[in-house]
Amino acid sequence: MTEHRADREKYRKQEYWDDRFSTEDAYEWLAGFDQIKELLCSWIKPDDKILHLGCGNSRLSFDLYDLGYKHVTNVDFAASLISRCKEQYGSSHPEVSWLCSDIRNMSALDDGSFDVVIEKATLDSLLVAEKSPWNMSDAGRQDLTSTLGEIARLLRAGGRFVSVTFAQPHFRLPHYAVDDYGWSCETRTLGTNFHFFAYCMVKGRPLDRTLVEPFLYAVRSAQREASRSPSPVHCADGDGDDNADWLKSIEVFEQ
Ligand SMILES: C[S@@+](CC[C@H](N)C(=O)[O-])C[C@H]1O[C@@H](n2cnc3c(N)ncnc32)[C@H](O)[C@@H]1O
Repeated sequence: MTEHRADREKYRKQEYWDDRFSTEDAYEWLAGFDQIKELLCSWIKPDDKILHLGCGNSRLSFDLYDLGYKHVTNVDFAASLISRCKEQYGSSHPEVSWLCSDIRNMSALDDGSFDVVIEKATLDSLLVAEKSPWNMSDAGRQDLTSTLGEIARLLRAGGRFVSVTFAQPHFRLPHYAVDDYGWSCETRTLGTNFHFFAYCMVKGRPLDRTLVEPFLYAVRSAQREASRSPSPVHCADGDGDDNADWLKSIEVFEQ
């Protein structure tokens, strides 16, 4: 069954993930490596120092490692997962680090210390309980702004923030294409049966507003409409798979 918004709140909680990882060995959210490998390799260099946000029990850092991208710091707030991974992979993957931290405040890490910050479906989990993607709550906005501020702080000049997400450009660009972060913003659409999205922000490159303005215009019009007559339409029930349930449980506002 499709989850209600209140149930989806669990994805924001550290206890939920700790509990889940105590029994689940591997789960790949959103997309497997084969679907994003080519694009990632065009945005990341093998000797880059990479920070991977909300690693969970994804294979991503191991797949990168096998291709020669060895300097990865995996971050997650699920303490049991991080200590298990440190123990399990410490000797087989000596260049990989594991850090237990909330991504909204990564004060243990130094300014400008990474070439690349990457996230896949992690920012989505911060925002999954939002009532409407057109009008984010103050709490959701605060979580996203704190995390993006941390990412901008941790990237060196010329460093890249790569985000792989369910969120379409009209929902995510208003938050990524922001002058305060001092980065450019490029968008790619991926996938065949259903689309997902990859964004690459380069710190120190100017933001080309002509690329983002059409999306921002769409958001502003939809927000005006939604504030006049919010009329949520629920998509069909999911099939029990978390990725499908998560996607299908998004409330879509009629235009
Ligand atoms: C939807 S899963 C994505 C996992 C992985 N990136 C993937 O693509 O399969 C979200 C992950 O982010 C972590 N997470 C969620 N909120 C977090 C936060 N505020 N700080 C650190 N990790 C967080 C969760 O523990 C979980 O591992």
